[in-house]
Amino acid sequence: MKAVIDILDLSKDEILELIDTAQDIIRDPDKYAHACDRKKLATLFFEPSTRTRMSFEAAMYELGGHVISMSSAGSSSAAKGESVADTAKTVSCYADIIAMRHPKEGAAYVAAMNASVPVINAGDGGHCHPTQTMADLLTIYREKGRFDHLTIGVCGDLKFGRTVHSLVGAMSRYEGNRFILISPEELKLPSYVKQEVLKARNIPYEQTTDLEKALPKLDILYMTRVQRERFFNEEDYLRLKDSYILTTEKMKLAPENMIVMHPLPRVNEISVAVDNDPRAAYFKQVLNGKYMRMALILKLLGIKP
Ligand code: NCD
Repeated sequence: MKAVIDILDLSKDEILELIDTAQDIIRDPDKYAHACDRKKLATLFFEPSTRTRMSFEAAMYELGGHVISMSSAGSSSAAKGESVADTAKTVSCYADIIAMRHPKEGAAYVAAMNASVPVINAGDGGHCHPTQTMADLLTIYREKGRFDHLTIGVCGDLKFGRTVHSLVGAMSRYEGNRFILISPEELKLPSYVKQEVLKARNIPYEQTTDLEKALPKLDILYMTRVQRERFFNEEDYLRLKDSYILTTEKMKLAPENMIVMHPLPRVNEISVAVDNDPRAAYFKQVLNGKYMRMALILKLLGIKP
C-alpha cells in the first residue's frame, strides 16, 4: 500500500489489524522502540495543526525514527509558487514516508501520485481526515467494545467538518449502525456523503437541528467545531458558531453509557465542566491517535517488529 488518502482506502480487516497493532504497542511499547530506527517521516503541514502534527511526530519518535519538517507553509517553497507535485517529488528524496495537511481538497492525492514514498493524508481541506478517524475508531473500540449496532450523533459543522465525512464513511461499513445528523440548516452533511455513503449502503439516518431531542437516543455523540476557515464570510460564521454548546445540564439528557467525542480543537461547543464527566472521551481520542499513527507508519513502511 502506498497511500492513505481516504479512510476507505483501508479495508475493515486492515482497520482491525491496525487496532491490534495499536493495542500491542500500548501493552508493550519497548518492543517497538527501535522499529523505525534510521527511518524519516516528513510532516508537510500547509494548515494549522497541534494534535495531528505532534502526534505524527511523537509516533515516529516512539518508534525510534526521525522527523523532518518545514517550520511553516509560509517559509517553504510553496510560498514561491512550487506545486504540491514538485514538493512531493522533492521530499521523497529526503524521507521514507510523508504526512501532509493542505487546505485544498485532493492535495494529498496529488502528492501521493507524485511521491515515491507512502503519503498519509493528514487533512485535505473540507474533504477527509483518515488518521483522525483511526483515532476515533480506536476510541470507539476501547470505550464501547464494538463498531456495530451503534446510534451515532454527529453534531455541529457537518458541511465543512472533514473528520465527520471520514467517520461517517468508516462507521457505515458496520452492521446495524444509524446516524443522527445534528446541525444548523446551512451546515448539513454534504449531499455527496449522503448519496455515496449513507444512501448507497442503506444506512438509516435522520437530520435534525435539535441536540436535546437527539441526546437520549445516542450511544456516541461526536461534537465538532464550526470550521471558521472554510467560511466565505465572517458574518455567517459569527451567526452559526455557537449553534450547539454541550453543557453538564444537557448531559443529564444523555444515556449513562453514551460517550462524548470531539476531534478537537474545541472552541465553545463543549463547556469545560463536561470534561469531568466520565463519558467525556475526547482527550482519550488524542492519545489513541498517537497509537494508531504508530501502527499506520509501521504498516506503510512494511515493518513488523
Ligand atoms: C480536526 C481537523 O483538522 O479537521 N482537527 C484535528 O485534526 N484533530 C478538526 C478541526 O479542526 O475542527
